[in-house]
Amino acid sequence: MSSGEKIKTTVSVIKADIGSLAGHHVVHPDTIAVASRVLAEAKMKGLLTDYYVTNVGDDLQLIMTHKRGVDDSEIHGLAWQAFKEATKVAKELGLYAAGQDLLSDAFSGNVRGLGPGVAEMEFYERPAEPIIVFMADKTEPGAFNLPMYRIFADPFNTAGLVIDPRLHDGFKFEVFDVYEGREVVFKAPEEIYDMLALIGTPGRFIVRRVRRKIDDEIAAVVSVERLSLIAGQYVGKDDPVAVVRTQSGFPAVGEVLEAFAHPHLVAGWMRGSHHGPLMPVGLRHAKMTRFDGPPRVVALGFNVKNGRLIGPADLFDDVAWDETRRLALMITDYMRRHGPFMPHRLGPDEMEYTTLPQVLEKIKNRFVETGERKAAPPKVKTDLLSHHD
Ligand code: 13P
Ligand code: 13P
Ligand code: MG
Ligand code: MG
Repeated sequence: MSSGEKIKTTVSVIKADIGSLAGHHVVHPDTIAVASRVLAEAKMKGLLTDYYVTNVGDDLQLIMTHKRGVDDSEIHGLAWQAFKEATKVAKELGLYAAGQDLLSDAFSGNVRGLGPGVAEMEFYERPAEPIIVFMADKTEPGAFNLPMYRIFADPFNTAGLVIDPRLHDGFKFEVFDVYEGREVVFKAPEEIYDMLALIGTPGRFIVRRVRRKIDDEIAAVVSVERLSLIAGQYVGKDDPVAVVRTQSGFPAVGEVLEAFAHPHLVAGWMRGSHHGPLMPVGLRHAKMTRFDGPPRVVALGFNVKNGRLIGPADLFDDVAWDETRRLALMITDYMRRHGPFMPHRLGPDEMEYTTLPQVLEKIKNRFVETGERKAAPPKVKTDLLSHHD
């Protein structure tokens, strides 16, 4: 696919929550305006080829194209400047949690690790280069694990894996361990059972890149930033973004979207501490009201031509998703009725904040020893074969 003199295009989606109107529910238009002005100036200077600014819930989304590759300090500096200036406006307007995701002032060439979420990919454009930018609010990066698996490894979702010779060899998944900062690559279909053993724990193991197996061509990228792990405490959820290439050697647009037809349960929602269904919506419904949710995902389709962003098409803004949304809302009711009980509320390890230690401390003198057996939590079995024989 690479042709010597041709220049690669980079798509950089960088997002941050810099404050929102009436709680955590939606970005204020004035902050979108100021971020747009910063990017417009960069386009005039030639740093950016093109850009599109939008929001999903309380997350400000910068969709940018340029020729500088991924992790470029000028592009990251530009995003940082846009977020800083938008934060200034958010503070003037008294917006809620102004500057929420800008965890540090120590910008030194890269926004990774400072709070914003980043999904970037670089490629030689095909004659037609259709991409989809996914943006979710009130959830975490691992929320994309299940759809990425469906899109690139599940023939019941993606017909092309069976019937299109260009997809038939399968894909490679880069899985990132956010606790250990390490990565492992799995081949699909041959290693899907090993891969699922990991990515079924989406709070820890995150699919962050997918490549086509035959030529290593980049197919998808997901932001993996987890704010609470950066800050060491709750500062908001890590509302993720992803970019997926489609058609002609990649799954079709309809195959990519199909992975969102089942509103699967994700972690996030109210106070970043609850499970709820991921509901696909158009931009006009990208605001988080019911119990600060339910978690939502928007899909914008673009064609990239010489770096220009042609579009977007607001892909979930369609009646074809009404039944998915209806199911998501039924699940919303069902989950909500659990109130403070797990598994609606996240387990103690995954909650963004908890009063459990204070409550235990307060009542510690009221516990009485009963003389009954003490027990540690049971160990997880790791050797089933020798068991039950
Ligand atoms: P066309 O033949 O219209 O390009 O459609 C192919 C395809 O990928 C449909 O999903
Ligand atoms: P965000 O992570 O989207 O800011 O949401 C935080 C929250 O507490 C919602 O209830
Ligand atoms: Mg917020
Ligand atoms: Mg958010």
